[in-house]
Amino acid sequence: MQLRIHYLRAFIWPPARASFAAMPGTQFPNSARDVLPTPPTSEPCVLVIFGASGDLTKRLLFPALYNLACDGLLSENCAILGTGRTRMTSEEFRNQMGGAEDGLRKFHTRKEFDEAVSDRLLSRLHYAPSEISVESFRELRETVARLDAEVGAKGNVLFYFAVAPKLFGALCENLALAGFREGQGWKRIIVEKPFGTDLASARKLNEEILRHWDEEQIFRVDHYLGKETVQNLLAFRFTNGIFEPLWNRANIDNIQFNVCEAVDVQGRGGYYDGSGVLRDMMQNHMFQMLAYLCMEPPGSFEPNAIRNEKAKLLQAVRVYSQDEVPQNVVRGQYGPSFKEDGSVDKPAYRDEKDVAPGSSTETFAAARLFIDNLRWEGVPIYLRSGKALWKRSTEIVVEFKRPPLASMRGSQVKELEPNRLVFHVQPAQGIELMFQAKIPGTTLELQQVDMRFAYGDAFKASRYTGYEVMLYSCSHGDATLFSRGDLVDAAWQIAQPIMDYWKSHPAGDEFPNYSRNSWGPKAAQSLLQADGRHWFEVITPEVLERCPLFKGADPLLLRSVVMALRPASAEAGDVLVQAGDAAHELFLLSQGEVEVLSPAGQPTATLHAGGFFGEIGLLTSQPRTGTVRAKSRCNLFVLDQKDFFRILRDHPQLAEAVTAVARERYALTLSAADLA
Ligand code: BG6
Repeated sequence: MQLRIHYLRAFIWPPARASFAAMPGTQFPNSARDVLPTPPTSEPCVLVIFGASGDLTKRLLFPALYNLACDGLLSENCAILGTGRTRMTSEEFRNQMGGAEDGLRKFHTRKEFDEAVSDRLLSRLHYAPSEISVESFRELRETVARLDAEVGAKGNVLFYFAVAPKLFGALCENLALAGFREGQGWKRIIVEKPFGTDLASARKLNEEILRHWDEEQIFRVDHYLGKETVQNLLAFRFTNGIFEPLWNRANIDNIQFNVCEAVDVQGRGGYYDGSGVLRDMMQNHMFQMLAYLCMEPPGSFEPNAIRNEKAKLLQAVRVYSQDEVPQNVVRGQYGPSFKEDGSVDKPAYRDEKDVAPGSSTETFAAARLFIDNLRWEGVPIYLRSGKALWKRSTEIVVEFKRPPLASMRGSQVKELEPNRLVFHVQPAQGIELMFQAKIPGTTLELQQVDMRFAYGDAFKASRYTGYEVMLYSCSHGDATLFSRGDLVDAAWQIAQPIMDYWKSHPAGDEFPNYSRNSWGPKAAQSLLQADGRHWFEVITPEVLERCPLFKGADPLLLRSVVMALRPASAEAGDVLVQAGDAAHELFLLSQGEVEVLSPAGQPTATLHAGGFFGEIGLLTSQPRTGTVRAKSRCNLFVLDQKDFFRILRDHPQLAEAVTAVARERYALTLSAADLA
């Protein structure tokens, strides 16, 4: 428990501590020191980074060390030694890491750059080229011993493998043979992902590593566990008494894990084409979050107690047979985006650099999983992730069971929404509890409302790269945030049949099946529709403001609309509104194009992203006057009639805007007052 408390505090308090330190002569008052014990610094050590000339070191590791140093959490008895096949001097390495163009000055995450801290850190930076061989590592050992003597690292060595996974086994073997395990002090290894590319390769790798090193010395990184919002899942679950009694199949209807990325493969086609989203995001980052959210309470907060429960949870996830895969998992790959004139704006995945033509690699996946244990039996766990989607956001939605509508007999309430607890992981960071409230007035009408906690409102913490806590806790030997071999194995066991099925069923013409900037293939929506559910899309006011109707609108109006919208999608040719039908909804077009058809079936207008339709039937309570058909694949927000009128009534400015459009489109003479 103790170590965990250290770092939870460490990343909330340091800014305050650092600013005290910056003021000469300022001391913590005694009482504060007693109540808030200062977190210890990292342990003395020589940190040896393999692959130090790569991106990870300059973008994430070095800025993380800098953050630790700024917060007074990096031991003074610490040296950093970069190594790898690249030949350069320590001076050149320092220039690279500290540089303004492509170094710390560019990648640091703090509001202000602290020159003194940076200089001090750079002075502890060294470089020595090496090959993966016993002789070369014997030389490296001498360099490490020299640095150790210089800084007083007590024989502790932390190896960081920021290299291609195929080198992990050879590195472990040669380091051991060169004698690095010997002597006083601890020796630990941090291994970057991916840990294997399938179950067999992960097992082989584990075996290779553990042939020379003990499990306690191996720290497998998953950078999602470095995120405060992910770490907080455990704190939230086990330190707040009100939720735990509800955390089971009796009260929870389903859980959704959603990792939407707006970026495409960003030039990493070579790596990504051999991976795909299942290996890249689900098998590791998303399963980690799943384990935290659904595991049993650990007997203590000792690293192994937590890791036991995480592994047990993943071991309880149903492993699908080949027949079950297509019923429970869908895949997707992005197509191109187009400019106004119809020419290609950004390429389809298959046309990205270093991607095989006709590639079957999935850039999107959605899955329905089940956890076969007493707590979760029968509760679907939905996971969805993809690249080149409409927005960047990661959230976990816990959807509770709906209360029985029967209890509202005799009232006007015809529908009840489930309560939802939403963990906003990024970029928004917070937790939101959604429930219904009575709308002030003389009758019983309900509206979705929320209680929100935002990190920015509660904590004064600096932005971190996520690697600070990894380096810090590894130096203390705290493996809570690192994956043990059994967890990695369990995660691959879940993923393996899905990979096997996809391998034996190449996508062919099925891909591309979603366009860039959309919310993925329609099959992902159907997966939940088949269960009578839908993905809960976290729509932000910013997203809504992309629609001209809401540009610059009152925040209260935006929030009411956001809470009421539900997502839908359509394929080219789908009829969204049929002339003569009763009108129940207003549609907002988020992506794609629709055409409006005259009663004779002639196209009379085309609406683009940001447009809306279906308002006229609602306004007049008459059957639909025209037909609206999707011209391309479309993503839409739907606003139900009841919510539409409620919002119009509460926000006359929206009524004005909608009726203005109706007047223009249909020469309708409704005034906003008619709608009250
Ligand atoms: C990495 C994946 O592990 O995680 C990337 O390889 C992905 O493809 C990234 O973009 C997402 O991380 P984050 O922290 O931006 O959500």
